[in-house]
Amino acid sequence: MFSFAGGPQPLSWAVRIRVAIGAARGLSFLHDAESQVIYRDFKASNILLDAEFNAKLSDFGLAKAGPTGDRTHVSTQVMGTHGYAAPEYVATGRLTAKSDVYSFGVVLLELLSGRRAVDKTKIGVEQNLVDWAKPYLGDKRRLFRIMDTKLEGQYPQKGAFMAATLALQCLNTEAKVRPRMSEVLATLEQIQSPKNAAKHIQSEQHTVSIPVQKSPLRQQHSPLNLTPRASPLPSYRQSPRVR
Ligand SMILES: Nc1ncnc2c1ncn2[C@@H]1O[C@H](COP(=O)(O)OP(=O)(O)OP(=O)(O)O)[C@@H](O)[C@H]1O
Ligand SMILES: [Mg+2]
Repeated sequence: MFSFAGGPQPLSWAVRIRVAIGAARGLSFLHDAESQVIYRDFKASNILLDAEFNAKLSDFGLAKAGPTGDRTHVSTQVMGTHGYAAPEYVATGRLTAKSDVYSFGVVLLELLSGRRAVDKTKIGVEQNLVDWAKPYLGDKRRLFRIMDTKLEGQYPQKGAFMAATLALQCLNTEAKVRPRMSEVLATLEQIQSPKNAAKHIQSEQHTVSIPVQKSPLRQQHSPLNLTPRASPLPSYRQSPRVR
């Protein structure tokens, strides 16, 4: 979890949605630009946060001009990061803006669950966040099982379910049916609206069953990092490139 000099402090639900909105706005801007840009390496470590938790996208090293004319995709060497890259892109090298939408879905899941996209310290299906979380996303009653225990149940159930549903749509294996980033942004803004952002907090009793990770002190204003460890950078460093 993101933490301050004074001690570890988890990001609140409202801040997580704020971060998601900032990042979605960034991708939406790139996708809808007159000359479309596909970001191609969207992941938590490339989202930088300022003091007000405004999200900025960093590292445009892998960004690619989108398809032009009648072309539906760009064919490229597969680059990106394991755990975030869209399956069709990894399999075929066909890159579209919808590849970014998939990666956004993974980051949204990280925000909801407080887990990393890939976690080699976990066993079996839990190593891959998408594989582990997907079955819970469409189920209102079981969703609390994947929600970050550090939220201590302090999130609106309706908003959480809307966000989970949105993540599921972004993670659809069929790229075409994933929403556009502008639609993702609009949905996140609805989640942020007072109607969905308050009340009906998840009851505490659902949240005690999973042990809470101890979070060590971390440097101030690091990039988005929801699950701190003693050493902040290595696990990002270890994320293998997909080539
Ligand atoms: N301007 C910055 N301010 C604060 N932290 C940064 C800044 N730029 C990078 N970082 C952090 O430094 C670490 C290394 O970043 P770097 O971009 O080299 O690798 P990465 O984001 O893990 O992978 P990629 O090369 O795909 O972007 C990451 O945790 C990143 O979030
Ligand atoms: Mg980076």
